[in-house]
Amino acid sequence: MKNSIPNLLLSAVSFVFVAAIAVTATPVRAGAATPAPALPQMGFNNWNSTHCRDEFNEAMIRGIADKFISLGLRDAGYRYVNIDDCWANWQRDKDGHLQANPKRFPSGIKALAEYIHQHGLKFGLYSSAGVSTCEPLKENRGFPGGLGHEKDDAATFASWDVDYLKYDNCNNQKVDAHKRYTAMADALRSSGRTIFFSMCEWGENKPWLWAGKPPVDAGSWRTTGDISDNYASMLKNFKENVVLDGYASLGHWNDPDMLEVGNGGMTDLEYRSHFSLWSIMAAPLLIGTDLRTIKPDALQILLNKEVIAVDQDPLGVQGHQVRDTGGIHVIVKPLKDGSRAVAVFNETDAAHDVTVTAAELGLKAGQSYNVRDLWAHAQTKGDGSIKIELAAHATAMYRIGRR
Ligand code: GLA
Repeated sequence: MKNSIPNLLLSAVSFVFVAAIAVTATPVRAGAATPAPALPQMGFNNWNSTHCRDEFNEAMIRGIADKFISLGLRDAGYRYVNIDDCWANWQRDKDGHLQANPKRFPSGIKALAEYIHQHGLKFGLYSSAGVSTCEPLKENRGFPGGLGHEKDDAATFASWDVDYLKYDNCNNQKVDAHKRYTAMADALRSSGRTIFFSMCEWGENKPWLWAGKPPVDAGSWRTTGDISDNYASMLKNFKENVVLDGYASLGHWNDPDMLEVGNGGMTDLEYRSHFSLWSIMAAPLLIGTDLRTIKPDALQILLNKEVIAVDQDPLGVQGHQVRDTGGIHVIVKPLKDGSRAVAVFNETDAAHDVTVTAAELGLKAGQSYNVRDLWAHAQTKGDGSIKIELAAHATAMYRIGRR
């Protein structure tokens, strides 16, 4: 994309604002003994880039951990290196314990976790609240799921030093979801290790109503079906998730699925919208592209620390949509320092002139504000209103405050 779109956006924006805005540093969660993180989880998961293809193996995941350091992702706040479906052997061992697929992970899961921990990162694993996981690979006849094995599997995860569990919904035998997810949540809590619980039942049982509270107390729950690497899919998941802001709270996040940024099916402008919208919604930021081959433009999106700071703001509030008219979305997220993050998204296929008043953003009229453009990294002063020409599928993002 080079500079054409940023320049277009920049030159088309006019503001009227006043003081300077301090951008909070990205909070860093470090240390293996830290309790489940309260802020939306940041990291990587291989699923969107590899699915179950052979390239998903321990060499790849070790390479990803290396890239977290060399590309500056750890410094930007990304912490988890998570592996998805197809890591397991197709059957449990003779004592009924899960075991790693010996072809993909010949050194075993504990060794992989150790490698990741040595990089100052955390390690996540995947299972399903069913009799087998989602991917029915013929050669493997399906991988064992956790239903009925919760205590044993949680103990195995703890013994491997797992920090995070994504718990899927396939082959659930129609057992009540509340029961299934409570059983694993309880098992993780009594495993002797702090393991972040990421529920993945695709919003089927309205998890936003119950998953964030005891007895489940999950860190996040999927609100949507699977994302694919195209604009229509990203848009669908955004629209389903953005209206659920009232159900998210610090430590309990709506999850519209993992990022596709860098996978090639959207333009950089659309990927920028994807990243902006996920951040204003305080969604988990789980990179879904192969970091060993990522292009610089995609990496630049993932490393935008000013946008990340919105996602990770310690006030812990999901942005609220204040406008959804004619394909223009305005989302406002209150921040800890008293300022507001604002995303203005044009979902339509044509450019639009958009005006947003200070009142619509919940700002007092007749005052002066500082506005920080989080993609142009430029600061202006004004009265809190925004006037912008927004390209098709583009999102502009600001931080507006008095200080
Ligand atoms: C489900 C999940 C995906 C992924 C696959 C793996 O579809 O929603 O995120 O984990 O299973 O098979």
